[in-house]
Parts: sequence; C-alpha cells; structure tokens
Amino acid sequence: MNIIDAMNDDAVFGRHFRTITWDAWRAFLAALFALPMTPEQLAIFQKCTNRNTPSTTPLQEAWLCIGRRGGKSFVLAVIAVFLACFRDWREYLGPGERATIMIVAADRRQSRVIMRYCRGLLKAVPMLARVIESETRESIDLKNNITIEVHTASFRSTRGYSIVAALLDELAFWHGEESTDPDTEVINAIKPSMATIPGAMLLCASSPYARRGALWDAHRKHFAKDGDPVLVWQADTRTMNGSVPQSLIDRHLADDPARAGAEWLALFRTDVEGFVSREVVEACVTPFERERPPLPGIFYRAFADPSGGSSDSFALAVAHVDGERVVLDAVREIRPPFAPTVAVAELVQLLKTYHVSSISGDRYAGEWPVEAFAKHGVRYEAAAKPKSALYIEFLPLLNSGRIDLLDSPRLVAQLVGLERHTARSSREGIDHAVGAHDDVANAVAGAAAIAIDKYSYRSDYQWVSGPDTDVVTDLVPPLPKRRHPNLTDEQLDRISAPVSLRPCS
Ligand SMILES: Nc1ncnc2c1ncn2[C@@H]1O[C@H](COP(=O)(O)OP(=O)(O)OP(=O)(O)O)[C@@H](O)[C@H]1O
Ligand SMILES: [Mg+2]
Repeated sequence: MNIIDAMNDDAVFGRHFRTITWDAWRAFLAALFALPMTPEQLAIFQKCTNRNTPSTTPLQEAWLCIGRRGGKSFVLAVIAVFLACFRDWREYLGPGERATIMIVAADRRQSRVIMRYCRGLLKAVPMLARVIESETRESIDLKNNITIEVHTASFRSTRGYSIVAALLDELAFWHGEESTDPDTEVINAIKPSMATIPGAMLLCASSPYARRGALWDAHRKHFAKDGDPVLVWQADTRTMNGSVPQSLIDRHLADDPARAGAEWLALFRTDVEGFVSREVVEACVTPFERERPPLPGIFYRAFADPSGGSSDSFALAVAHVDGERVVLDAVREIRPPFAPTVAVAELVQLLKTYHVSSISGDRYAGEWPVEAFAKHGVRYEAAAKPKSALYIEFLPLLNSGRIDLLDSPRLVAQLVGLERHTARSSREGIDHAVGAHDDVANAVAGAAAIAIDKYSYRSDYQWVSGPDTDVVTDLVPPLPKRRHPNLTDEQLDRISAPVSLRPCS
C-alpha cells in the first residue's frame, strides 16, 4: 500500500481526506514518493514547483513553503505515521536499536501539534492503534521498533539517533537562544543520523518569512530545478487547502499586505532584511573573553534595557572607549522571572566595580528604573534615542571592526537575529524578529553609543576647575584617542591647567 492508497482507503486514513480540498496534497505526496499522477495533479505539481517533470524515484528531502493553515503540520503527521506503520526499517537497525521519527519545532508546544495529529491518526484506526506499545506526552513507541518523538530546535538534542524521518515544522521561525542559525545547525546534526537508513526522509515545512535562513537557501538552490533531488514546493494557502475562505485572506491582505503575503500567499518578505551578518559580528568577538575586569584610569559607561521581570530579560552592558575603538567590558542578563528590585540591586553591584554612578537606559521602560536605581545612588537617564537609532549607529562599529565584543553566544545570536523592516513594513525600523529577543543586543548597542557620545561625560563627570564646559565640548572629537573618553591628550594639553575631572559622588 502506498501513501495515496492509504489516504484513499477508509480503513486507513480515508476518513480524513474525503473532501476534494486535499487534491493538491495528493499531488505533493505523489511527487515525494514518485507515484503516478493524474493530469490535474501534474498541473498542480508544475504550478507549485515550477518544474516540468516529477522525479521517477522517491525523494529524500523536500521543503514545503506553504501558507498558514495550508495543512503542513497535518500532512507531515500523515507521512510520519505512514513511514512508521507501513515500512519495515528493522533491517537497518542494530540489535536493540530503535528507529526514530523526529518531529522538530521551535518549542515543545508547537511540536506537540504534529504529535497530536500523529496520535489522532494512529488511534482512529484500530489496526494502527494496536501497533502502539507505549506513549508519553512527547513520544509514542511502536511495537516495530519505531519511536515517534518531538524535539525542540536544538542541534544538541537532535544528535545521536537513527532517524528514518525528520519533520521540521515552521523552521523559518526558529530563533536560537545562543545560536545564530538553529535551522541549519539542526539539519546538519540530523543528516548524519539518516545516513545509514536508505529511504530516510527530511521534510522541512514552514510558511515563509524573510529572505534568510535555511528555507530561503533551499528555495534559492532547489526551487524550479528539474531533476534536482531536493524538492521545493511553494504554494499559497488556498492552493493546498481550499477550505480556507478567500474573504479571510483578503481581510489580512488589506490590513498588512507584506505580512499577509508571506503568511497566506507563501511569498518571502521583501520588506524584512537581516541587519548584520554573522561573519561581521563574529569578527568583532574576542574569543574566550567573557568579561573584562575594571582597570584604573578608564571611564566606563553603562546602558540598561530594563524589564519588569515577567517576560523579558533585564540586560546591562558596560563599555569604554580606547583610542578609536569601543571595548565591551561586561554584559549581564537577568532572565525572567525575577523581582525588578532584586535585579537592580544585583546590577548596581556590577556598576560599582566599574565606578559607574550614572547610566543610560531604554526610554520605553517608564519611570520605575529611575527610582529603582536612585535608591542605590545611581542616576538612570532615559536614552534620548530610540532603539532603532542605537542599532543604526552601532552598525558602522561592527562593519569596520571598531568594537571589541565579548565572547557571548547570546549576544551574537541576538545581533545576527535583528531585522530591518523597510518603509513598506508595518514595523518600520530595526528590531528582533517576532518571538525572538534583543535585550542584550540593545544594552550593548546603547553602551557603545554612550561611550562614544562626546557629550556623555557631562552626566558622570564634572569640571572642578578649568574652562567652562561648553568651550570644552566644542573641542571634543567624536572618537577620542587614548585614555580619556572625550579628549585626546593633545587637546587636554591645550586646555589650560589646572584641569581635572572627578566622578560625581
Ligand atoms: N486541504 C485541506 N482540506 C481540508 N482541510 C484541511 C486541508 N489542509 C488542512 N486542513 C485542516 O486545516 C487545519 C490546519 O491544518 P494544519 O495544522 O496542518 O495547517 P498548517 O499549515 O500547519 O497551519 P499553521 O500554518 O497554522 O501551522 C486542520 O484542521 C486540517 O485538518
Ligand atoms: Mg502547522
């Protein structure tokens, strides 16, 4: 029995596929398993792959770039259950070994969607239900040495299995906490686990998003390529699932065309670009340097991205200027949940070690950080510039390698994960992707900005004698040399003595 027979047979999956709205999926499955196609199915194949002829041998890798509610997760589950129950993989397994059908999604909650579909498909058919040996919330063991289990998008958790099928769901929306490209890393970790299993399948499904990441790469390399063993199937929601009303899609398109174009029409967004490449950021990282201890004679600056402690992290970064470079000295991230007052107290301890008594911070945090830091004798000033502006100023430092970053995978992942939304987008500016975070990146960009801000010394330091501040600030270059954050030695010499700076108490 092939998979289309199983879909057409009421004794197997037939009850789920009675309506004609599933025909495009039949065309996809015929292409994947190299089964005969009707002329109508061939036309759908040609429309969704931009290829002329389907492969004559079953494919081992396919990418489904399909609109929301198109049926991706359900069909992945059908393939998983079919491969688990209608194929015998035992000849490829060692004694006592189990073969795994791995479902990978951004988080456990999402991967359970496919898991629930698998469970439903198995239990709806007595013949298949009998194959279940045991089950937990996140895995089903079958009597034929197959385990269907869910994983989150981490390359560590996906290593070391014998995999007969890997089903990666919504991978355009995976955001690694400490990884810049979790999709590629997971695929690289999974592929060797499939190498010893002939006929093992890698299926990656997602509605498209920005023109970056593994889905975009696969689309670029394999879409519309006749004879390519990797299949890319791109289709809008209604091509795959005609039961979704056109009026609903029209409403979304009217509200936010760029977003709805990706979600429902399966078009990669052209209004969202990556902000900075991984190569550029990594070139600025000092390997193995997690934190730089405070040194005497250096004026440190700090920037905070506060959080109330329920959903976002509270991040703080300390930086200083050294010649033409900005040096990141310390980064702290307190992850939720936490009590904001306790977080502030902890961060103040760090500030004290760097003799920082006045900091800048995100302007959207409201008044409470001002009061919370003031209780510890630290002045908190809301940044004059919005986050987007801080990132725009930060980019030349990264591109020219004039910032020494710390070796923090989280910082690198957050910087690389930033997106630039162009004027055509509803979210203009630079920000993290939906579902991702940028607290650490924001604090670091802010710390760099105030470290090089020629006026910033006014908040921490005051002249005790010498010329008046306005005269001095006119002489200050944007990027000072040597020790002093704002003045070159030469300029300091030019200003008549006695001149000395001392930190505000
Ligand atoms: N071609 C179809 N005909 C009829 N119903 C369908 C079809 N495709 C999907 N459905 C139904 O639509 C619902 C959504 O399916 P599924 O979860 O597989 O979609 P999805 O593409 O993964 O959606 P999302 O983008 O929201 O994750 C399910 O109830 C499924 O049975
Ligand atoms: Mg889905």
